[in-house]
Amino acid sequence: MGRFCKCNGRLLCMCLLPCMMTGHLLVYVLVSIFVTISYTPQKITVHYIASGVSAHSSALASHPVGPFWNLRLEDSAMWNQLQHAWDRQHNPILRGNTTGITRETKLKLLSEIEDECSSVCMSRECSVPRVQDFNSLPEQMRAFILAMHCREYPLLINQPGMCRRNSSLGLDSPMLLMAIKSQVGNFENRQAIRETWGRSGLVKGESNKKGGLVRTVFLLGRQDSSTGPHPDLKNLLELENQKYGDILQWDFRDTFFNLTLKDLLFWHWLQQHCPTAIFVFKGDDDVFVRTGALLDYLHKQWDEHNLWKAYTNKTNLDLFVGEVIYNAMPNREPSAKYYIPERFYKGGYPPYAGGGGVVYSGSLALRLKDVSERVRLFPIDDVYLGMCMYRLGLSPSHHPGFLTFDLPETDRGNPCAYRSVLLVHRRSPNEMLTLWKQLQSLPAHC
Ligand SMILES: *[C@@H]1O[C@H](CO)[C@@H](O)[C@H](O)[C@H]1NC(C)=O
Ligand SMILES: *[C@@H]1O[C@H](CO)[C@@H](O)[C@H](O)[C@H]1NC(C)=O
Ligand SMILES: *[C@@H]1O[C@H](CO)[C@@H](O)[C@H](O)[C@H]1NC(C)=O
Ligand SMILES: *[C@@H]1O[C@H](CO)[C@@H](O)[C@H](O)[C@H]1NC(C)=O
Repeated sequence: MGRFCKCNGRLLCMCLLPCMMTGHLLVYVLVSIFVTISYTPQKITVHYIASGVSAHSSALASHPVGPFWNLRLEDSAMWNQLQHAWDRQHNPILRGNTTGITRETKLKLLSEIEDECSSVCMSRECSVPRVQDFNSLPEQMRAFILAMHCREYPLLINQPGMCRRNSSLGLDSPMLLMAIKSQVGNFENRQAIRETWGRSGLVKGESNKKGGLVRTVFLLGRQDSSTGPHPDLKNLLELENQKYGDILQWDFRDTFFNLTLKDLLFWHWLQQHCPTAIFVFKGDDDVFVRTGALLDYLHKQWDEHNLWKAYTNKTNLDLFVGEVIYNAMPNREPSAKYYIPERFYKGGYPPYAGGGGVVYSGSLALRLKDVSERVRLFPIDDVYLGMCMYRLGLSPSHHPGFLTFDLPETDRGNPCAYRSVLLVHRRSPNEMLTLWKQLQSLPAHC
């Protein structure tokens, strides 16, 4: 009898234990699903505020309401919906193989979206999306939405030889390619930059004298005539380009919400005409850069990378530095320049670097170009770069030398205050020349 019981107990054990374990697992799974579904994000303290958001406006939420790039579909926001469709289309698990997706599935995914090609746009995929209450949106938002599927515009002025010119000297790849966003009318800014921090050619480093080859190009669109007629500057621009050969101009309206196109089209140009550039500076034509100090910093990064390359087998340097803004929220103030309606985009912004100026490695630029083909255009260029970085699984690095919000007012006139500065926003052409002269010979007591 006793023996039977023992045997029965063992049997019971062998039977019950797996059942109990499965039961526990089930409870665990149910609880985790429940927790995930009912998750409400915590309040996060704000450290930075998105560019254009006034710090004192109470109308704005200043923290992300949820994790950026939500897994669940935000079907009330147009951008999120479009991006979701692309995410699914490019998801290797859902998709299986690259030819598997049928047109019907694709159309179902893009359910709300009309498939309609406009004759002016040469993009591969032309679909004009629909958004509720379209006509009540501000003009620039409407213009953006109508053209956001177009990513290819012809070059009107090109510089195909930019990175080949000095090949006889063995100097074909620039150490630093400066790509500066400008507008047709900003002749004075461009000239001040050429005469100061953006001078093309061999530039000395500040401390170690190593320096490197610097090349400068200006990124332009077409003069925006929607705000009224303007004088025809086409011939002047042509003359300028004949003299300096540093203008890249594309055939799209040069407006604030079209600035993202400049990044995208510049990456294409870079891949085609200057893929060996080691570093890229991208910035506006109203910033001041201490190019020598920047070259010193970049040499240090490059040397460290080469040192570690032997150990890690990492051939590409993933450098992206600037003034990084974390936990920013879209501006929801309809009168603001940076206004993004909730119908268009929901969620917080990924970490991004203020667009006054950033530096990234050339190899990263080429990766950004590739990944950008899977990220829908976003009207604010700095945020778009943040989105592409996020997509690559990278995050921009903060550098305290990038002052896109300028120095404290009392320090602006003091040359010594610029010692640790790499970039400062904003400076007029006259201020650039003055500052450049002052910084050539920093007083010894600094
Ligand atoms: C991908 O899918 C297509 C159509 O479903 C099929 O013909 C093809 O063999 C698949 N390719 C691979 C590599 O599985
Ligand atoms: C080559 O570089 C030198 C030194 O930077 C510069 O003076 C020269 O103009 C360059 N040559 C061409 C053809 O641009
Ligand atoms: C951007 O440029 C395109 C082409 O010129 C134009 O159709 C579109 O309206 C512009 N978008 C904005 C937001 O200005
Ligand atoms: C790096 O690459 C070399 C040759 O490709 C290989 O022999 C070596 O084991 C690699 N080292 C590491 C740390 O992966």
